This record gives sequence, C-alpha cells and structure tokens, in this order.
Amino acid sequence: MDTGDEKRSNHKIVVIGSSSVDFTTYAPRLPNPGETLHGYKFVTSYGGKGANQCVAAAKLGANTYMISRLGDDKWGVEYKKYLKELGVDVCHVTLTPNVSTGIAQIMVAENGENQIVIVPGANNHLSSIDIKAAGDIIETADIVIGQLETPLESTLEAFKRCKGLKLFNAAPAIKNTEVIFPYCSILCLNETEASLYVGYAVDLTNGSFALKKILESGCEKVIITLGDKGAIYSTKHDSKCIHVCCEKVVPVDTTGAGDAFVGALATYLVTHKDYPLHQIIGAACAVATMSVIKEGTQTSYPSRFDAFANEYEYKEL
Ligand code: RIB
Repeated sequence: MDTGDEKRSNHKIVVIGSSSVDFTTYAPRLPNPGETLHGYKFVTSYGGKGANQCVAAAKLGANTYMISRLGDDKWGVEYKKYLKELGVDVCHVTLTPNVSTGIAQIMVAENGENQIVIVPGANNHLSSIDIKAAGDIIETADIVIGQLETPLESTLEAFKRCKGLKLFNAAPAIKNTEVIFPYCSILCLNETEASLYVGYAVDLTNGSFALKKILESGCEKVIITLGDKGAIYSTKHDSKCIHVCCEKVVPVDTTGAGDAFVGALATYLVTHKDYPLHQIIGAACAVATMSVIKEGTQTSYPSRFDAFANEYEYKEL
C-alpha cells in the first residue's frame, strides 16, 4: 500500500472529521435534472473530507491522528483497518452501533468536474464524547483540522481545547457556521463556500474584498482556493491580499482536490513553519494539482512529494 511511511515527521496532525465510502460513477458529462446518462465506470473507494485530508497528510509523511465515527457495518470495519494500514492513528475512530457508515454519491464528468451528494450516517454521531476521549491528543496537537461533514459543536469544542494551530475547512458550504471562525488560526474555503459567506459570487477579480469581509469574522488568516487559478490569502495582521499561482494541467478528476490541499497545507504549516506563507500555499496547490491528474480521491494523492523543490509565483492583488 502507498503509505508515505519510512520516517514520519514528529509533528502531530489531528483531524476531527468525516470518514465516508464514495460510490463514484464516471460519465462523459454531468447529467441535467431529470436526465439519465450512460456512464462507463463505477468505483467504490474510501472518502469523506476529514479522512481525505488525514490521508493526504499521512501520505506526505505526517504523523496523523483521526477522530471520526464509522458505522458498525462491513464498511466501517474495513475503513478503520485501511486507515491503520496507512499509518494513521485510529485509536479514536469509533464504530457506532446500529448506524451506517456515511456515504457519498459522486458523479465525475470527462472534463474532471464532479457533483456530490453525501448522507452522513455515523459522521453525524461524532460528539463531545469523542472530543473528551481524545482530549490529550487534541491538547498536544501541532495542528487540528476540522470541516463541515461532522457536527460543528464537536469541532468547536476541539478548537477551544487545542493549543496549536486550528485549520478549518468550511466545506461543504453550510449557512450559519461562522460561530467557529473566531477560533480559527486559518480558515480555508473555495470560491463557492466563500460566496455563501459574503453574499456574492467570489472569483479572482473580487477575491480581495471577500478576504477582507471574511477576516472581519475574527479568524487570523483566510485562504480562498480558486481551482486551477491557485489561491488567494490575507491575514488580520497585514491587509495585503496575495495571489499564489499554480500550474495548469488537464484535469481527469477534481474530486477531493480541496482535501489534498488542506491535508498538504496542514503538513507544511508544521513541517516548514519558517517558510513564507505563499511558498507553503504554493506547495499545497502543487499537491492538489497532482491529485487532479489521477482518478479518485485518496488514491490520487502523492506520497513523499518534494513540493519545496520549486519557488511558487505570487503577487499582491
Ligand atoms: O471532497 C471530496 C469528498 O467529499 C468525497 O470523498 C466525498 O466523500 C465527500 O465527502
């Protein structure tokens, strides 16, 4: 198995989040409402934004801990075993009695675009009990990562306990979740998610206004990812808006690219903490770019990739 093992970094990356099974169909294009299309491939794989981010970090050589809920079904048992084989600490991955493992139904078009519907199942059961049980790990973590496929209150509780960095990926976009923003060292979201918070469609041309507005919510740094246009960021200590460019490729499957970015960002923030932020973001973009040229989510993430061999282009907007 592609584990990223050998020597792992000593830094502790803790992911509070979802673990789901992805049922993915591949078709020439995405269907219109009410339309049936002939697809050409069907794949079952391990996913969920939380686990994807954890696996992305583990494959890059990070020391990872997953705090998650699976069902006590065949999928739950197999998923936990698989994460352990990848070198992820699964002491706080709990199989929940009488509940199904979360699932995602994914459609991928030939141009790499996707559509996803999730049914959270056991992910909805991640609670204060899990956060308390993992209290020591959370308190001593270098970085804790959260997303929005598990209950927000649990992530909030973990962020309040964590003494290290708190990286929140506001995905998928859900209204009224800003309560966690003041506890975030870094808030990371894509254009669609940013649009929900600012009330207009965000892109590279108006991204600096969106960054300013989101920073007002109290987080320290905001990163908006822009697909093949890279990412923009701003911090509360410095009103500059920086655009980090990324390499253009022909995408095969963009599913989970945002998770590859978040997992890599968390890894590099702790393993390369003296590097400038634009370089860390550029390196995370490079990992996400590598993921879109292969099919699948976790299966497309690179192992032991030397993302710092390059200097990444950036400019102030
Ligand atoms: O971000 C991609 C992920 O979103 C998929 O793996 C799927 O499980 C959904 O959670």
